Order: sequence, then structure tokens, then C-alpha cells
Amino acid sequence: MKSFQLTSEFEIFENKEELPGEVQELVEIAIEAREKAYAPYSRFKVGAAILLDNGEVVPGSNQENASYPSGLCAERTAVYFAGAKFPDNEIKILVVSAKSLNRSVIAPVPPCGACRQALAEYELKQQSPISLYFMGETGKIMKSESVKNLLPFLFDKSAL
Ligand code: THU
Repeated sequence: MKSFQLTSEFEIFENKEELPGEVQELVEIAIEAREKAYAPYSRFKVGAAILLDNGEVVPGSNQENASYPSGLCAERTAVYFAGAKFPDNEIKILVVSAKSLNRSVIAPVPPCGACRQALAEYELKQQSPISLYFMGETGKIMKSESVKNLLPFLFDKSAL
């Protein structure tokens, strides 16, 4: 019997001011998008901003539904919007910011499993890593150099 380990590495920024200028701008766009979230059921609003290799920025926010599972997270709204509008462009950076209308969210909010799978598909398609930054309403910001780092040992087309 053999065993192996998978490790993930993250960077932590203490606050927005520590981020590179280009990422700070994306944070502002993610926050703007977050305010446009339609989240009457969870009262948990999430905004995303995607920077493409052509300089375009694509926003997204979570969209909920009275039939709960029909809703969609901010990250997938943004990534599918980017894929639909700019099918030939690579995603460079994704920034996510989350806020609750019930309590203050100070811990970084990472993408859910389904969003990681969706993002991984685009990273594999473009064959270059997507940098991910995720945060709450305030507080620390976490960075991952790639989706792979957030979803090791993933299911992909090689399994089909
Ligand atoms: N949500 C996101 O938009 N992104 C995530 O990665 C986690 C969860 C949304 C889905 C739902 O509208 C609300 O947050 C509560 O789960």
C-alpha cells in the first residue's frame, strides 16, 4: 500500500489596502455586484468580479429562487456570464466578496464545492491558472494561485 498527500497553499492579506491596485479595483466591482445580489431567502449576498485577458471585467452576484436549488451562486453567475460573452478569452483573476444581512461576515468566504468544479472546468479549458481572492464584508482576504489548489483530485474530462 502506498499513500500520498495533497497540499494547498494560500496567501492571506490583512486588509484591502494590502492588495495589488488592480485587485483593489476588482474588489470594488465585486462589492458593487454584491449589492445587486438577489438573495431574499438566505439574506447572504455574494458578489464576484472576473478580470479577463482582454481587460474586460465581468461581474456576478447570487440569484436565488423560491425553489431553493434553482438559485445560482455569484461565482458561477460570473463565470458563465464571462463564458457566454467572451468565449475565447482567458480568466485571469476572480474576486469574491460576501455579506450577510443578519450578521457581520469578517472571515473570508471561499467558493462552494459546485463553484470550484465549475471554475476548474474553465481553468482546464484555458490551460492557465485563475487567481482567486475571497473575502467577507471586511477583514482578511485569502488568495489562492489557482482553482486546482482549492479542488485537488478533481473530476475532469479525463475520467469520461
Ligand atoms: N453563495 C454564493 O453565491 N457563493 C458561494 O460560494 C457560497 C454561497 C450563495 C448561494 C446562496 O444564494 C447564498 O449564498 C447562501 O448559500
